[in-house]
Amino acid sequence: MSSAKRKILVTGSSGQIGSELVPALRERYGTQNVVACDIKPLQEGSGPFELADVTDREALEGIIRKHRIGSIYHLVSILSAAGEMNPNLAWSVNIESLRNVLDLALQHKMEQVFWPSSIAAFGPHTPRIHTHQLTVMDPNTMYGITKVTGELLCNYYFVKYGLDVRCLRYPGIISWKTPPGGGTTDYAVAIFHGALREGRYECFVAADTVIPMMYMPDAIRAAIEFTSAPRSRLHTHLGYNLAAMSFSARELAKEVKRHLPGFVCTYKPDARQKIADSWPKSIIDDRCSRKDWGWKPRFNLCRTVEDMLNHLRVVVPGPR
Ligand code: SER
Repeated sequence: MSSAKRKILVTGSSGQIGSELVPALRERYGTQNVVACDIKPLQEGSGPFELADVTDREALEGIIRKHRIGSIYHLVSILSAAGEMNPNLAWSVNIESLRNVLDLALQHKMEQVFWPSSIAAFGPHTPRIHTHQLTVMDPNTMYGITKVTGELLCNYYFVKYGLDVRCLRYPGIISWKTPPGGGTTDYAVAIFHGALREGRYECFVAADTVIPMMYMPDAIRAAIEFTSAPRSRLHTHLGYNLAAMSFSARELAKEVKRHLPGFVCTYKPDARQKIADSWPKSIIDDRCSRKDWGWKPRFNLCRTVEDMLNHLRVVVPGPR
């Protein structure tokens, strides 16, 4: 995204990705040039912030006019597990807010929109190993359905109106700044909190469950490098596959135990197991991302666990 005179808006700024993308964008483009927006009041931080529900088109348009917004990172989303508890809410939050963003981006002649898709856009009939860019997509969660719908909508606005919309299909994201909440991949974050706080964790998926994952610094770098790439290099405005690492819940627990030898992980699969089983298992085929905009991950499981523990040790109380 160019640093233009018009400002950047980040919706869902207090969420898992937003709380790390906002500071990264502010460092790159200047604090005053990045407006954060969330439905939850801001806890801390500096820089422009707007409290708003972006399913409210008028409220969103007011923010766009007030700050002369020229591009949007639209991160607002109800995740997979939370979406199954309230499918209507997942549809309205995920899709109505995206339509508002796309329509207003056109109306206000914006330079670019970034929207995160997910591996949840795949489904039970998608090949689970080396999942290709163009493949069967038959998600069976409302979250996944909104991700496929959203990708198609984004592509529609690109093809029909020439709007520069960019989407990445993120794997599960591991990070330490926000507590886990609402996702199926949450166990890969919660395990660190359990290990540090109590020396144990009861995992809600089976030990051999494998899901593609990514560490947050890679996810943030991906968003910034992708949105900075020349439009002429991009071959799709559906979601780009994006890969970093894949491991089982047992392998993750083993790596945590290497640092915290007393750690005990037990497994008690719940409803989220079925969701996890419908997603790709091993490395997603992300050759298009590598070729079109130079994607290359930096964090593997070993580096991720080390870095997570280094950060969380400072903030999470517990026995160790
Ligand atoms: N992390 C998301 C979830 O678990 C997947 O994109 O819902």
